[in-house]
Amino acid sequence: VLELRTAADVADAIRRLAIRGAPLIGVAAGYGIALEPAGDPSALERAAEVLRAARPTAVNLEHAIGRVLRAARGADDPASAALAEARAIEDEEKAASDAIARHGAGLLAGAGVILTHCNTGALAAPGRGTALAVIAELAARGRLERVIVTETRPLLQGARLTTYELSRLGIPYELVVDGAAPGLIASGEVGAVIVGCDRVAANGDVANKVGTYPLALAAAAAKIPFVVAGPTSTIDRACPSGTDIVIEQRDPIEVAAAGIPARNPAFDVTPAALVTALVTERGVIR
Ligand code: MRU
Repeated sequence: VLELRTAADVADAIRRLAIRGAPLIGVAAGYGIALEPAGDPSALERAAEVLRAARPTAVNLEHAIGRVLRAARGADDPASAALAEARAIEDEEKAASDAIARHGAGLLAGAGVILTHCNTGALAAPGRGTALAVIAELAARGRLERVIVTETRPLLQGARLTTYELSRLGIPYELVVDGAAPGLIASGEVGAVIVGCDRVAANGDVANKVGTYPLALAAAAAKIPFVVAGPTSTIDRACPSGTDIVIEQRDPIEVAAAGIPARNPAFDVTPAALVTALVTERGVIR
């Protein structure tokens, strides 16, 4: 449990991934704005700037900051209005998570073995999460054989967080290294791939944790569904296509010893043509 007292604290927690996952980043940023003295418009703008700079790819951050700022600006009591809006965002994301779970479970009821990447559960989004919420719902309905979890290099969200969540949920899983996943998909033992998303462009291209694109290619080659789950707060209608999405470049020290020339992109873009369906709280877009 983290106790964060200022927008700068929240931004720092987001930057170092103590708070991560697109919907949760958005909710936290909303509360981050609400922590600042709302009577001082310049304090709110500064807070927004600090939070916006924390991570560039998940659009939920920008959406939540914008909402809380707008709510505070026009209000008689800006502090209460900011807090109420931050709470509303959290409640909406919780409800979205449940709806995504239902829609996604309907779509993937026959998949059997499902492969997932990164962490998209209750540690990444309010409520039950996104892709992992679909998996949990399938398990609850008795429609899931097991989950194949990728490690998710470089920071191991799959190995450290998804395995923890699946263990707690009592859902059978196996962990594999990222490089093993395309081969397992090609072998025919995976029924579907489901992942979350950090930004969906207006044309349907999807930015998600680095390593997602190879899974989409493998799924297309094996002719199995490649499904993306996320709330509509992750859709960026102002962003025409995947090439317009800013991909966060993290410190190479996360992947290589100091002095080794290394590059560390945190996300990649999967073209819409490789996405079988996008599951949102409003339903399934094919
Ligand atoms: O760098 P992270 O751990 O924030 O990346 C998270 C992801 O890529 C998730 O798939 C995405 O945010 C959706 S979380 C429900």
